[in-house]
Amino acid sequence: MKALNDIPVIKGKRVLVRVDFNVPLNESGEVKNDKRIRIALPTIQYLLDQGVGRLILMTHVGRPKGPDPLLKTDKIARRLSDLLRRPVGKTDDWGERGLPEETIILLENLRFHPGEKSKDPVERDAFGKQLASLADLYVDDAFSNLHRDHASMTSVPKFLPGYAGLTVEKEVSNIQKVLERPEHPFVAVMGGLKADKLAAISFLLEKADHILIGGALAFSLLKIEGYSMGASKVDDEGMEEMGELVKKIQKNPRIHLPVDTVIADRFAEDAKTETVSIDQVKEGWMALDIGPKTIQNYVNFLTRAKTIIWFGPIGVFEMEPFSQGTKAIGKAMTESHALTIVGGGDSASAVESMGYGEKMTLVSTGGGASLKMIEGAAMPGLKALSA
Ligand code: 3PG
Repeated sequence: MKALNDIPVIKGKRVLVRVDFNVPLNESGEVKNDKRIRIALPTIQYLLDQGVGRLILMTHVGRPKGPDPLLKTDKIARRLSDLLRRPVGKTDDWGERGLPEETIILLENLRFHPGEKSKDPVERDAFGKQLASLADLYVDDAFSNLHRDHASMTSVPKFLPGYAGLTVEKEVSNIQKVLERPEHPFVAVMGGLKADKLAAISFLLEKADHILIGGALAFSLLKIEGYSMGASKVDDEGMEEMGELVKKIQKNPRIHLPVDTVIADRFAEDAKTETVSIDQVKEGWMALDIGPKTIQNYVNFLTRAKTIIWFGPIGVFEMEPFSQGTKAIGKAMTESHALTIVGGGDSASAVESMGYGEKMTLVSTGGGASLKMIEGAAMPGLKALSA
């Protein structure tokens, strides 16, 4: 995979940059949260500083079935212009009717075009070729979309020399380092609501020394082991679908589950709470966080670790009484001497809200994409850049 500093000449060139500006928009198309736009600023600024001739940006927004006035990129272009303090042109198409005169241009939502997500590779390549005709070089900075085989990700680099943007380079190199040559002890913390993390856990069993489990994921596994989990949220259906993986995980001594938990009589910040051992969850009560003994066990593993990855909150961190486990994991990671990676949208926001973001080696910008990499799944966007 070639990086930005491998580009021989940027000055005066037309560069087509795939960004992920898949930001939440309100009913009038205003940007509600511009984090994803800010993520791309270093790559955009780098290209501007090198004297790029034209910077043509392209993104998808949402999952439209066709053109949708609520998912146009106009307000995104305006927000980008505010952030850069420079004009940003906007097209209502993908360059068919020419490009506006501004140096920086944002194309219309790629997913309005049938070629972007077409199942037919010929149709995808036709759209990719059309996009590629706008530029001399292609840069992919959309890490969070690398698991998608879409025209702007995998077809465009068939027709233009392709390079990784700074976001893609940073995320991919850190995650690859962890997967290919982790320093040991390597500890993974896996939480969240759903059983879909089991694929990643199974893959990590070959690589990590310890896997610490929290969140509803832990309570679902404990329920299968025969513990009564009261009214706790569990993903029974997901566990059933993952049948074989569950068996593989249960028998493994590298897997660690909570030994105690904070339970509540209802799902509310002001609920009545108790801390109990894992076999004492009361009928009708729900487990909403790991307890102090589990925190201590988990922190002991993290303190000695040289590599730590964390996917998924391990309690209901948005509610103060159930945030202790998540906070303790975040704190132990920042105090360790390990390479630390936080992935997944919810754990990334937990880490940011606790002020630990800056102290981690990497807080991934792509929940789905980083989890896919950790599962060892194919990453078409990445493969296209390496071809
Ligand atoms: C994301 O938000 O995870 C990426 O932009 C990918 O979006 P998608 O899941 O709609 O393909």
